[in-house]
Amino acid sequence: MDYQSFVNGQIAEIKASVGNHLAINALSGGVDSSVVTALGHKAIGDQLKTVFIENGLMRQGEPERVVKIFADMGIPVRLVDAKKEFLGALKGLTDPEEKRNAITRTFYATVFGKLVRETGAKYLFHGTILTDIEETVAGIKRQHNILAQIGIDPEKEYGYQVLEPLKTLRKDGVREVAKLLILPQEITRRIPFPGPALATRIVGEVTEERIATVRAATAIVEEELGDTGAFQYMAILLSDRATGIVNGKREFGQIIVVRCIHSLDARTATPVELPWEKLKRICERITAIPDVNRCLYDLTPKPPATIEYI
Ligand code: XMP
Repeated sequence: MDYQSFVNGQIAEIKASVGNHLAINALSGGVDSSVVTALGHKAIGDQLKTVFIENGLMRQGEPERVVKIFADMGIPVRLVDAKKEFLGALKGLTDPEEKRNAITRTFYATVFGKLVRETGAKYLFHGTILTDIEETVAGIKRQHNILAQIGIDPEKEYGYQVLEPLKTLRKDGVREVAKLLILPQEITRRIPFPGPALATRIVGEVTEERIATVRAATAIVEEELGDTGAFQYMAILLSDRATGIVNGKREFGQIIVVRCIHSLDARTATPVELPWEKLKRICERITAIPDVNRCLYDLTPKPPATIEYI
């Protein structure tokens, strides 16, 4: 595919669709939403309002870092604090699908609906790619950014129209477009991180305290495994507890699982054979997090396991 013609074609199409109206998009810092942001701003400049929704489920320092990367490219991104809304919607939920639904509803109906009304935006740009559509239609994945394909009319339900400029591309194509748009490597080489963010790595209830635990463990895992070249690596907080001895006292503490996998396209995955020394160091650092007294390494391939835990 000639990606330069793709970019030119999409810019022309975006201009024609949006006209004099305003558009809005949510940036997560992932490669898809980053490409949409850069493409949209190239096409319609400040007619596109880009927001970063701080859902309280992001990794350490992530919201500020993403806003800064785009500011350095001359693209203003508004940081919207919606922590209370998301945490409120997740309160008391333990079922994985209910948790995912709560995040989807909060994102589109509560937070986005409000922003669209505030800005008067008529269009919403989405980073949906071809694989998302195929996997959602096949029932493999429950992506939260595929509305039309699962029979939800966003204009009727939420009051805006969705444009998906990347829907004919796969990940490799998106990365090619990212290069043409001169996005920094920190964005183009980022490991996959799911839309529902750290909530996919918390088994059981998502509370502020539990997010803080998995966030601290995630920072350790990303720091220790960043040089492995693995497809994805993560920390998961289980809802079970286990007895441990901390400072000479028995405590019923928390359990963190570490997962590090090789994969080509996330449809299948195999665990990475990490060096023992590396695993021991990760274990030592993770069990130094308050209230965590066990650290496990997940050896399960996909299938039968999925990559995330919810
Ligand atoms: P699973 O857990 O289904 O994950 O084996 C496959 C890949 O998809 C990512 N993932 C998501 N990405 N929204 C996303 O944008 C989601 O809801 C979502 N759930 C899983 C996961 O990180 C892995 O790379």
